[in-house]
Amino acid sequence: MMGGPFYNVPLGRRDGRSSNASAVEGTLPRPAMSISQLIEVFGSRGFSVQEMVALSGAHTIGFSHCSEFSSAIYNYSKSAQSDPNYNPRFASGLQQACADIKKNPTLSVFNDVMTPNKFDNVYFQNLPKGLGVLKSDHALFNDAKTRPLVELYANDQSRFFRDFAKAMEKLGVLGIQTGRSGEIRHRCDESNY
Ligand code: HEM
Repeated sequence: MMGGPFYNVPLGRRDGRSSNASAVEGTLPRPAMSISQLIEVFGSRGFSVQEMVALSGAHTIGFSHCSEFSSAIYNYSKSAQSDPNYNPRFASGLQQACADIKKNPTLSVFNDVMTPNKFDNVYFQNLPKGLGVLKSDHALFNDAKTRPLVELYANDQSRFFRDFAKAMEKLGVLGIQTGRSGEIRHRCDESNY
Protein backbone atom coordinates (compact mmCIF):
# COMPACT_ATOMS: atom_id res chain seq x y z
CA MET A 1 0.00 0.00 0.00
CA MET A 2 2.81 2.40 0.81
CA GLY A 3 5.18 1.30 -1.96
CA GLY A 4 8.45 -0.28 -0.96
CA PRO A 5 9.98 -3.67 -1.66
CA PHE A 6 8.39 -7.11 -1.50
CA TYR A 7 9.86 -9.78 0.73
CA ASN A 8 8.87 -13.28 1.74
CA VAL A 9 6.90 -13.80 4.93
CA PRO A 10 7.08 -17.52 5.72
CA LEU A 11 3.93 -18.83 7.38
CA GLY A 12 3.76 -20.82 10.61
CA ARG A 13 6.22 -18.94 12.80
CA ARG A 14 6.27 -20.49 16.27
CA ASP A 15 6.29 -17.95 19.10
CA GLY A 16 6.40 -18.16 22.89
CA ARG A 17 3.24 -18.88 24.86
CA SER A 18 3.32 -15.65 26.85
CA SER A 19 3.37 -12.02 25.73
CA ASN A 20 3.98 -9.31 28.34
CA ALA A 21 4.81 -5.66 27.70
CA SER A 22 6.72 -5.59 30.99
CA ALA A 23 9.13 -8.27 29.75
CA VAL A 24 10.07 -6.19 26.70
CA GLU A 25 11.85 -3.27 28.40
CA GLY A 26 15.58 -3.74 28.21
CA THR A 27 15.42 -5.66 24.94
CA LEU A 28 14.21 -2.89 22.61
CA PRO A 29 16.39 -0.17 21.11
CA ARG A 30 15.54 3.24 22.56
CA PRO A 31 15.90 6.73 21.02
CA ALA A 32 18.22 7.93 23.80
CA MET A 33 20.73 5.15 23.16
CA SER A 34 24.13 5.96 21.66
CA ILE A 35 25.18 4.37 18.38
CA SER A 36 27.45 1.99 20.31
CA GLN A 37 24.51 0.86 22.44
CA LEU A 38 22.27 0.45 19.38
CA ILE A 39 24.98 -1.55 17.59
CA GLU A 40 25.22 -3.72 20.72
CA VAL A 41 21.43 -4.33 20.83
CA PHE A 42 21.28 -5.31 17.14
CA GLY A 43 24.62 -7.14 17.25
CA SER A 44 23.56 -9.28 20.19
CA ARG A 45 20.81 -10.64 17.94
CA GLY A 46 23.08 -11.22 14.99
CA PHE A 47 22.40 -8.06 13.00
CA SER A 48 25.25 -6.09 11.42
CA VAL A 49 25.62 -2.31 11.50
CA GLN A 50 24.51 -2.22 7.86
CA GLU A 51 21.40 -4.28 8.60
CA MET A 52 20.61 -1.98 11.53
CA VAL A 53 20.78 1.10 9.31
CA ALA A 54 18.76 -0.54 6.52
CA LEU A 55 16.05 -1.61 8.97
CA SER A 56 15.94 1.88 10.48
CA GLY A 57 14.71 2.99 7.08
CA ALA A 58 11.33 1.69 8.28
CA HIS A 59 11.06 5.16 9.84
CA THR A 60 10.08 6.31 6.35
CA ILE A 61 6.51 5.61 7.49
CA GLY A 62 4.49 5.80 10.70
CA PHE A 63 4.41 8.05 13.71
CA SER A 64 6.30 8.89 16.90
CA HIS A 65 4.58 10.08 20.04
CA CYS A 66 5.80 13.45 21.33
CA SER A 67 6.99 11.82 24.56
CA GLU A 68 9.62 9.89 22.55
CA PHE A 69 11.50 13.04 21.53
CA SER A 70 10.24 15.87 23.79
CA SER A 71 13.49 16.00 25.79
CA ALA A 72 15.29 16.93 22.55
CA ILE A 73 13.00 19.85 21.67
CA TYR A 74 12.08 21.41 25.05
CA ASN A 75 14.58 22.70 27.65
CA TYR A 76 17.37 20.78 25.94
CA SER A 77 20.19 22.68 27.64
CA LYS A 78 20.92 25.95 29.45
CA SER A 79 21.78 27.64 26.18
CA ALA A 80 19.40 25.94 23.75
CA GLN A 81 15.72 25.07 23.80
CA SER A 82 16.27 22.23 21.30
CA ASP A 83 19.04 19.81 20.37
CA PRO A 84 21.19 21.64 17.76
CA ASN A 85 21.17 18.53 15.57
CA TYR A 86 17.57 19.36 14.68
CA ASN A 87 16.95 21.82 11.86
CA PRO A 88 15.77 24.94 13.77
CA ARG A 89 12.57 25.41 11.72
CA PHE A 90 11.78 21.73 12.06
CA ALA A 91 12.40 21.89 15.82
CA SER A 92 9.98 24.76 16.19
CA GLY A 93 7.40 22.87 14.11
CA LEU A 94 7.79 19.89 16.43
CA GLN A 95 7.44 22.18 19.48
CA GLN A 96 4.16 23.49 18.08
CA ALA A 97 2.85 20.05 17.18
CA CYS A 98 3.61 18.81 20.70
CA ALA A 99 2.60 21.97 22.58
CA ASP A 100 -0.34 20.25 24.26
CA ILE A 101 1.62 17.16 25.29
CA LYS A 102 0.78 17.42 29.01
CA LYS A 103 -2.95 17.34 28.36
CA ASN A 104 -2.82 15.04 25.36
CA PRO A 105 -0.30 12.18 25.57
CA THR A 106 -1.52 10.70 22.27
CA LEU A 107 -0.06 13.59 20.23
CA SER A 108 2.32 12.29 17.59
CA VAL A 109 4.13 13.36 14.41
CA PHE A 110 5.12 11.64 11.18
CA ASN A 111 8.52 9.90 11.26
CA ASP A 112 9.24 11.11 7.72
CA VAL A 113 8.08 14.71 7.51
CA MET A 114 8.60 14.94 3.73
CA THR A 115 6.84 11.81 2.39
CA PRO A 116 5.06 10.29 5.41
CA ASN A 117 2.81 7.93 3.47
CA LYS A 118 5.36 6.61 1.02
CA PHE A 119 7.84 3.84 1.70
CA ASP A 120 10.90 5.36 0.01
CA ASN A 121 14.46 6.40 0.91
CA VAL A 122 13.56 9.98 1.82
CA TYR A 123 14.00 9.17 5.53
CA PHE A 124 17.75 8.85 4.81
CA GLN A 125 17.77 12.08 2.77
CA ASN A 126 16.13 13.86 5.72
CA LEU A 127 18.85 12.98 8.23
CA PRO A 128 21.67 15.23 6.88
CA LYS A 129 19.14 18.10 6.85
CA GLY A 130 18.35 17.71 10.55
CA LEU A 131 14.86 16.44 9.77
CA GLY A 132 15.02 13.24 11.83
CA VAL A 133 12.39 13.00 14.58
CA LEU A 134 14.17 10.81 17.13
CA LYS A 135 17.55 11.39 18.71
CA SER A 136 18.59 7.96 17.40
CA ASP A 137 17.72 9.04 13.85
CA HIS A 138 20.14 11.97 14.16
CA ALA A 139 22.74 9.67 15.69
CA LEU A 140 22.77 7.49 12.55
CA PHE A 141 24.00 10.45 10.53
CA ASN A 142 26.33 11.87 13.18
CA ASP A 143 28.37 8.75 13.86
CA ALA A 144 31.18 7.84 11.46
CA LYS A 145 30.26 4.15 11.69
CA THR A 146 26.77 4.67 10.31
CA ARG A 147 26.95 7.89 8.27
CA PRO A 148 28.36 6.24 5.10
CA LEU A 149 25.44 3.79 5.16
CA VAL A 150 22.90 6.61 5.56
CA GLU A 151 24.55 8.28 2.56
CA LEU A 152 24.53 5.03 0.58
CA TYR A 153 20.78 4.54 1.09
CA ALA A 154 19.98 8.25 0.59
CA ASN A 155 21.62 8.03 -2.85
CA ASP A 156 20.42 4.59 -3.93
CA GLN A 157 16.82 3.64 -3.24
CA SER A 158 17.02 0.25 -4.95
CA ARG A 159 20.01 -0.70 -2.79
CA PHE A 160 17.98 0.34 0.29
CA PHE A 161 15.00 -1.73 -0.87
CA ARG A 162 17.20 -4.78 -1.52
CA ASP A 163 19.01 -4.60 1.84
CA PHE A 164 15.81 -3.77 3.75
CA ALA A 165 13.91 -6.72 2.26
CA LYS A 166 16.73 -9.13 3.08
CA ALA A 167 17.07 -7.85 6.64
CA MET A 168 13.28 -8.04 7.16
CA GLU A 169 13.30 -11.71 6.15
CA LYS A 170 16.04 -12.24 8.73
CA LEU A 171 14.13 -10.25 11.37
CA GLY A 172 11.09 -12.41 10.68
CA VAL A 173 12.79 -15.51 12.09
CA LEU A 174 14.47 -13.81 15.05
CA GLY A 175 13.78 -15.65 18.29
CA ILE A 176 11.66 -18.26 16.55
CA GLN A 177 10.67 -21.38 18.51
CA THR A 178 11.09 -24.77 16.91
CA GLY A 179 9.85 -28.33 17.26
CA ARG A 180 7.18 -28.71 19.91
CA SER A 181 8.03 -25.56 21.82
CA GLY A 182 5.91 -22.44 21.46
CA GLU A 183 2.87 -22.13 19.25
CA ILE A 184 1.70 -20.53 16.01
CA ARG A 185 -0.27 -17.53 17.19
CA HIS A 186 -3.69 -16.53 15.88
CA ARG A 187 -2.66 -12.93 16.59
CA CYS A 188 1.01 -11.96 16.54
CA ASP A 189 0.76 -9.82 19.69
CA GLU A 190 -0.91 -12.29 22.03
CA SER A 191 -0.65 -15.95 22.89
CA ASN A 192 -3.50 -18.36 22.08
CA TYR A 193 -5.50 -18.70 25.28
C1 HEM B 1 17.49 1.83 15.48
C2 HEM B 1 16.79 1.68 16.54
C3 HEM B 1 15.35 2.10 16.65
C4 HEM B 1 14.83 2.94 17.58
C5 HEM B 1 15.58 3.62 18.70
C6 HEM B 1 13.42 3.08 17.27
C7 HEM B 1 12.54 3.84 17.99
C8 HEM B 1 11.23 4.09 17.62
C9 HEM B 1 10.30 4.91 18.38
C10 HEM B 1 10.57 5.55 19.73
C11 HEM B 1 9.15 5.00 17.66
C12 HEM B 1 7.88 5.76 18.04
C13 HEM B 1 6.90 4.82 18.73
C14 HEM B 1 5.68 5.54 19.25
O1 HEM B 1 5.77 6.72 19.62
O2 HEM B 1 4.61 4.92 19.29
C15 HEM B 1 9.33 4.22 16.47
C16 HEM B 1 8.37 4.06 15.48
C17 HEM B 1 8.48 3.16 14.46
N1 HEM B 1 9.54 2.31 14.22
FE1 HEM B 1 11.33 2.35 15.16
N2 HEM B 1 13.12 2.32 16.17
C18 HEM B 1 14.25 1.68 15.77
C19 HEM B 1 14.35 0.78 14.74
C20 HEM B 1 13.27 0.32 14.00
C21 HEM B 1 13.27 -0.86 13.16
C22 HEM B 1 14.45 -1.81 13.02
C23 HEM B 1 12.04 -0.94 12.59
C24 HEM B 1 11.48 -1.96 11.64
C25 HEM B 1 12.18 -2.68 10.81
C26 HEM B 1 11.28 0.20 13.05
C27 HEM B 1 10.00 0.49 12.63
C28 HEM B 1 9.23 1.51 13.15
C29 HEM B 1 7.92 1.90 12.63
C30 HEM B 1 7.19 1.28 11.44
C31 HEM B 1 7.45 2.93 13.46
C32 HEM B 1 6.09 3.65 13.34
C33 HEM B 1 5.09 2.95 14.21
C34 HEM B 1 3.69 3.55 14.14
O3 HEM B 1 3.39 4.39 13.30
O4 HEM B 1 2.84 3.15 14.97
N3 HEM B 1 12.05 0.93 13.91
N4 HEM B 1 10.60 3.68 16.47
